[in-house]
Amino acid sequence: MDFNLTEEHMMIRDAARDFAQTELLPGVIERDNAQTFPDELVRKMGDLGFMGIMVDPKYGGSGMDAISYVLIMEELSKIDASASVMVSVNNSLVCYGLEAYGNEKQKEKYLTKLATGECIGAFCLSEPEAGSDATSQKTTAIDKGDHYILNGTKNWITNGGRAEIYLVIAQTDKHKGSHGINAFIVEKGTPGFDIGPKEDKLGIRGSDTHTLQFNDVKVPKENRIGDDGFGFRFAMKTLSGGRIGIAAQALGIASGAYELALKYSKERKAFGTEICNHQAIAFKLADMYTEIEAARMLVMKAAWDKDQGNNYDMSSAMAKLYASKVAMEHTVEAVQIHGGNGFVKEYHVERLMRDAKITQIYEGTSEIQKIVISRGLIRG
Ligand code: CAA
Repeated sequence: MDFNLTEEHMMIRDAARDFAQTELLPGVIERDNAQTFPDELVRKMGDLGFMGIMVDPKYGGSGMDAISYVLIMEELSKIDASASVMVSVNNSLVCYGLEAYGNEKQKEKYLTKLATGECIGAFCLSEPEAGSDATSQKTTAIDKGDHYILNGTKNWITNGGRAEIYLVIAQTDKHKGSHGINAFIVEKGTPGFDIGPKEDKLGIRGSDTHTLQFNDVKVPKENRIGDDGFGFRFAMKTLSGGRIGIAAQALGIASGAYELALKYSKERKAFGTEICNHQAIAFKLADMYTEIEAARMLVMKAAWDKDQGNNYDMSSAMAKLYASKVAMEHTVEAVQIHGGNGFVKEYHVERLMRDAKITQIYEGTSEIQKIVISRGLIRG
C-alpha cells in the first residue's frame, strides 16, 4: 500500500490549486451574491483540461485517472464549489455517461465538444415527484419509429441554463418499471424544450439550477443511449461515479474551511493569546483534521476502485456519505472558530457552510447512500 501521491498527481493538484487561487478566488464572493459565473472562467477550466479530465484524448479529453479527478475537485472546491459542481456534472455524469455507454457516432458528435469545454452538459434525472425515488419517472418518451416524443418536467438541474447538451432520463414503458426507462441526448434549442427561471439557492449560488420543460420534444432515435430499457441502469452506473466527484467536492469544502479556521486561530487573540492556544479551539482543529483525513481516505479509495476497474457503487456511496457529513459539521465549526467574523461574507467560511449542505442532498441524499451501502452489505 502506498499513501503517497505520484509526482504527476502532485503536479496536477498544484495546477488546480494555482488556478483556484489566481482565477477563482478573486470575485468568488461577488459571484455568490450575484448568482453568476462568467463563461470566460468555464473556458479557462476547459483550456486546462478540467472539463474532460478522464476522457480519452481521442475525444478531446485529458486522459487522466480518477485520482487526478478527485485532486482537481478538492482544490477547486476549497475556493469555489459553484465552479466545481459544473466540473463534476460535466465530467462524471455527462462525459463519463457518454464515453462509457454512448455509441461512436454520439461520442464524436457530443463528447468531443463536452470534453474540451467548448460546451457543457447537464444530467436530467430528478423530477418534482421523482427525486430519491428515481424509478418513478413521470417524463415520458413515446416511441414513434425513427424518433421519440418527450413530455414532462425535470427540476433542480445543475447547468440547466448554461448547458448545450442534456442527458434526459424518461419513461418509455411504465409497465416495465425500471426496465422501461431510457436516456436521451437532447440539444438546447430543440423545439418544445424550454428552460425555466434560475433557482435562488442557499449555496453553490454561482452555478445555475433550473427547471426544464419538455412539451412534445422530438428526439431522433439515434440519440437514445444504449439498448432499449437501459436508461435506469445508465443513470445508476453514471451516478456511482458522480458520487465520487461530489464526495471530493465535500472534501474540498471541508478542507478549505479547516485551512481558513487554522490560519484565523493562529492570528486572532483572546484572553491574552492566539485562540489556537485555547483547548476549546485546539480540540476543534484536531477533530476537523482527523475527520477530514478519514474522508480523504474514503474519497481516494473510491477513486482508486474506479481506476482499478473494481465495482465502486459502495465505495463511492460511503465516500459521499461521510465526506458530506464532515463538510457540513466542520464548516459549522469553522464559522464558530471565526466567531462574529465567521458570520461575515469576507471571511469565506459562511459561504463554505452554505455550500456544504447540498453535498448531503444532490446525486443521492445521505439517506439514499445508506440504502446503496446497506443493500450492498446484505447482498454480500
Ligand atoms: N448499477 C447497475 N444496476 C443498478 C444499479 C447500479 N448501481 N443500481 C440499481 N440497479 C438496477 C437493479 O439491479 C435493478 O435491476 P433489476 O430489476 O434487473 O434487478 C434496477 O436497477 C432497479 O434497482 P432498485 O430495485 O434498487 O431500484 P429502487 O427503486 O429501489 O431505487 C435507488 C434504487 C438506489 C434508491 C435509486 O432510485 C437512487 O439512486 N435514487 C437516488 C437518485 C439520485 O441519486 N438522484 C440524483 C439526481 S442527479 C443530480 O443530483 C445531478 C446534479 O445535477 C448535481
